[in-house]
Amino acid sequence: MKTTASLPIEFCGIELSSPVINGSGTYDAIASRRIFGDEAFASENFPFAAFVSKTITENPRAGNPPNRIWETPTGMINSIGLPNPGLDGFVEDHLPILAELPVPLIVSVMAETPEGFTRLVERIEETGRASALELNVSCPNVHSGLIVGEQPTETEQLMKHLKGRTELPLIVKLTPNVASPEEVAVAAEAGGADAVSLINTIKATAIDPVSGSPAIGAGSGGLSGPAVRPVALQQVRAIRSRVSIPIIGMGGVTDGESALEFLLAGASLVAVGTENFRDPVAGRRIERELGAELTRRGFDSIGAFCDRPSS
Ligand code: SIN
Repeated sequence: MKTTASLPIEFCGIELSSPVINGSGTYDAIASRRIFGDEAFASENFPFAAFVSKTITENPRAGNPPNRIWETPTGMINSIGLPNPGLDGFVEDHLPILAELPVPLIVSVMAETPEGFTRLVERIEETGRASALELNVSCPNVHSGLIVGEQPTETEQLMKHLKGRTELPLIVKLTPNVASPEEVAVAAEAGGADAVSLINTIKATAIDPVSGSPAIGAGSGGLSGPAVRPVALQQVRAIRSRVSIPIIGMGGVTDGESALEFLLAGASLVAVGTENFRDPVAGRRIERELGAELTRRGFDSIGAFCDRPSS
């Protein structure tokens, strides 16, 4: 007898085995492959239904000075600063490994200009190895002048600039650090975004009581984990009422129940982030628990849940 709801779901034309994926930069698939070998990429072991890469920039980045991670009550501040090998390094060294993933690959990219985004998007698409692209317009940890995702008009223009240039679905990662994330989501949709993902981290810092200075090397970072879940749920719900494109919801997903909260708020997929630092295979457990939560509520599939009368 079947004990939990079946979870396969379609997202932007991509078939996924469940709605549970990772948040960008929170799971190192390449390290897992290096340490655990082929087993790490066996479909029965890989913890997510799609893999979102760490954000790639055109040029290599070393990232921010330590401390880069700081634990807080029910949360974590990170100020990693997008360390990455740059576009060439990613395409030459990382993509051949990620091409062996048992799940679709979503590549996260960040640039300072529309032209920079175009170069990233076109080159990644050319490789034929990505199923979608996530545009990180919301990182709080780099000093690039304007953060595109803080301005609805900039976001819309970026999307319009990119839209005709790629066949791949474009997901816009939104910042919670604005007065109205809904306006940015509406602008992203108007510009042609295929989906939005939210929330990125909330600007935060910690003070070292001995030195009296910030404990974060770069001075501040972004808060994530269960502490931010209520904020994330509110923003997902508000954005759901303003756009019709799918939403990837994230912010403190730790178990099946919190994943379900995001689906109830209007997300189509949920991303696990901070919980991966505690339990790198949390995605698998959360998927199981989500199936059980849906069954408990009388749904035999995620499709039946999405089609429920009140949704
Ligand atoms: C980082 O590398 O600083 C985190 C990425 C992000 O918040 O977008």
